[in-house]
Amino acid sequence: MTTSIEKLLNDQVKYEANASMQYLAMASWADEKGYNGVADFFYLQSEEERLHMTKLVKFINERSAKVIIPELSKPKSDFESLNQLFEFFLESEVFVTQQINHIIFECLQHKDYNVHNFMQWYVTEQLEEEAVAKTLLDKLMIIGDDKSGHYLFDRDINMIVTANADTNQE
Ligand code: FEO
Repeated sequence: MTTSIEKLLNDQVKYEANASMQYLAMASWADEKGYNGVADFFYLQSEEERLHMTKLVKFINERSAKVIIPELSKPKSDFESLNQLFEFFLESEVFVTQQINHIIFECLQHKDYNVHNFMQWYVTEQLEEEAVAKTLLDKLMIIGDDKSGHYLFDRDINMIVTANADTNQE
């Protein structure tokens, strides 16, 4: 593995770890506000990002490269609304997708097909996560400021949490 690919993979460890802590902060915000469904969604999302991080750490070690466990950024913990929470979620996922695409590009430049192959799992994962984030934000845009709409949104998001939990157990 080239030094530049090694650095990019370590950067990605940091991005996934930051995402995990960010979603934990978002879960806690939602929990505090009484949006229990949204809280469970982000608690689960936080766990998933931790798994994404660990998968990278294990891969870098398997390839006998050097893992650097990073210092993390302070997550944003205050949000004005559910809309802002989910806008932030989508932005975070778009950012991660851009970084993954950059790694893929560099793998091709350096003809590192092994890392390229490994990263395909992340490409698929990002497609799914961005789609979920976009769908949920679209629903919130339709709901607007309607409080009963928010209540129903919070209730319905439980279905996604349950479906994701089932998928993770398979
Ligand atoms: Fe692992 Fe959603 O980025």
